[in-house]
Amino acid sequence: MSHASTTFKDAVVHRRTIYQLNKKAPVDDKQIEEVFRLAIKEVPSSFNSQSARIVVLLKDDHDAFWDIVKDILKAHVPEEQWEHTGARIQGFRNGYGTALFYEDPAPIKALQSKLPAYADKFPQWSEHTSAMHQYMLWTALEAEGFGCNLQHYNPLPDQKAAAKWDIPLEWSLKAQLVFGGEEEGARAGLQERSEQPIAERLFFHGGK
Ligand SMILES: Cc1cc2nc3c(=O)[nH]c(=O)nc-3n(C[C@H](O)[C@H](O)[C@H](O)COP(=O)(O)O)c2cc1C
Repeated sequence: MSHASTTFKDAVVHRRTIYQLNKKAPVDDKQIEEVFRLAIKEVPSSFNSQSARIVVLLKDDHDAFWDIVKDILKAHVPEEQWEHTGARIQGFRNGYGTALFYEDPAPIKALQSKLPAYADKFPQWSEHTSAMHQYMLWTALEAEGFGCNLQHYNPLPDQKAAAKWDIPLEWSLKAQLVFGGEEEGARAGLQERSEQPIAERLFFHGGK
């Protein structure tokens, strides 16, 4: 998908979960960094907390992350399930990069002290803040020509990742977005996304 002519609607429709990835990035690393800088700068957060922290791992660092996950899982998953699990992790490792989405609890705690009436809501809004960043980047990276999928292996790799990439242990890992070149035919056979009737999920009032 060429980003020069991509409308927001095109990008929203184009975004899918793509598992068959490779190490051929459709744009250079500078352009990848630009997309992430745009997200950190422009994606909104609750009460403008700016609590999202994103660690981007490319190439060898991406591989190292999935090796950490694989080694931990290998120790936990029953032998007879390993073939399936190991192949799944290898599929992520086949990609070009992974974005780790964290939330920093410090700005959340500061808001809870400043606005005690909403104290119990801020943790939930912190999750929403992270999700906003995840969706924007998933959509933006696919508009750049990557395929992506979203994973949740936290908390398994949290400590080892923190040690390897100097990530504060108090940051809370929420999700991992895997991205890479799309293998030929990676979008063939994708399931229809909107199976549940829209009329049961969208309620529109007051329009003409
Ligand atoms: C909040 C959220 C969490 C998800 N978690 C995972 C996950 O842990 N592993 C995975 O393979 N896909 C995950 N997905 C992908 C969904 O299964 C997928 O987006 C959905 O089936 C619609 O397909 P599409 O992404 O191709 O539109 C997640 C998606 C969302 C929005």
